[in-house]
Amino acid sequence: MKIHSVLFACAVFLCNTGCSRAQDKPDGLKDYFRSCFPVGVAVAPSSVSGPQRELILQHFNSLTAENVMKPSPIHPEETVYSFQNADLISEFARKNGMKMRGHTLLWHKQSPAWLFKDANGNTATKELVLSRLKEHINTVVTRYKGTVYAWDVVNEAIDDGAEFYRQTDWYRICGPEYIAAAFRWAHEADPEAKLFYNDYNTENPAKRAKIIKMIRELLDSGVPIHGIGLQGHWKINYPSETDLRKSLDEYSKLGIDIQVTELDVSVYPSGHNDPNDDSFTPERENGQIEQYKMIFRTLRDYKNVITGVTFWNVSDQKSWLDNFPVPGRKDYPLLFDQDNKPKKVYYEVINL
Ligand code: GLA
Repeated sequence: MKIHSVLFACAVFLCNTGCSRAQDKPDGLKDYFRSCFPVGVAVAPSSVSGPQRELILQHFNSLTAENVMKPSPIHPEETVYSFQNADLISEFARKNGMKMRGHTLLWHKQSPAWLFKDANGNTATKELVLSRLKEHINTVVTRYKGTVYAWDVVNEAIDDGAEFYRQTDWYRICGPEYIAAAFRWAHEADPEAKLFYNDYNTENPAKRAKIIKMIRELLDSGVPIHGIGLQGHWKINYPSETDLRKSLDEYSKLGIDIQVTELDVSVYPSGHNDPNDDSFTPERENGQIEQYKMIFRTLRDYKNVITGVTFWNVSDQKSWLDNFPVPGRKDYPLLFDQDNKPKKVYYEVINL
């Protein structure tokens, strides 16, 4: 009896040390929101092998390719696909048990010129453009089947101004049916993948109404669309909590998933255009803290409909907002600083 008790105590001791080893890994952002939604980040292939590698593994459980899965980089010529860079990121996600979002199958930017030209250099016909779209979607989606669980199928098809649809080559040549076609072909290639419409300014009431109308019509005609991606390129003063909640309420009524797909919070309000006034002042830092706290409090309240939140870039070391939209202006839109260390806002967000 005694010997059994000793053996039992040893087993418990061994098990505890084994279990606690797993807990030795420091918690990251993803762990604080584990019961809410996956937390992702958009990366370049160099980030997953460079100095940000450990930071990415500690804080995020989902990846998006910042650029290399977009139409131009992945399909530069009609008969040439370039998968190498996208493969580096998808392999990293797979090996490390991370989710991966595919971004993006169709966009008016970063798309190759050949798509819209025929062999004589004239504008391609609708039939030709759509057949190329089908081939592109089938090839790319099939390749990442089983790794990419969600695709941004169509990016930014709705106009910001008076038009309903954005007046792009896609629209001018094909009319709006390219949108439904893209979703159907993506679904054919991978019936398991969650298919998203993705856009920015999704909290703007006029644009929101158009997006909702389009998605409702797609759903009513049986198009396989499973989610709306709110890019979340937000600012210190946009959106307001009221507009964000109203938007989440409205999009929820569609009965599809909601994800924030490209989150960052610029420290500048719109209208700030001075590249020489670009330091990370205490006022800017405090404003950003309040905005990020509002955003995560709100997203947490909607965790039943939100299936993912992805940051656009890892740290303030390098963000697409450096030099954009104001050339020469540095921005500080993320939770990690220029040395890849957590900012004060990081601690505020995890301690909400
Ligand atoms: C849009 C696109 C992203 C990215 C950002 C800016 O939001 O969806 O892929 O290009 O612009 O970097």
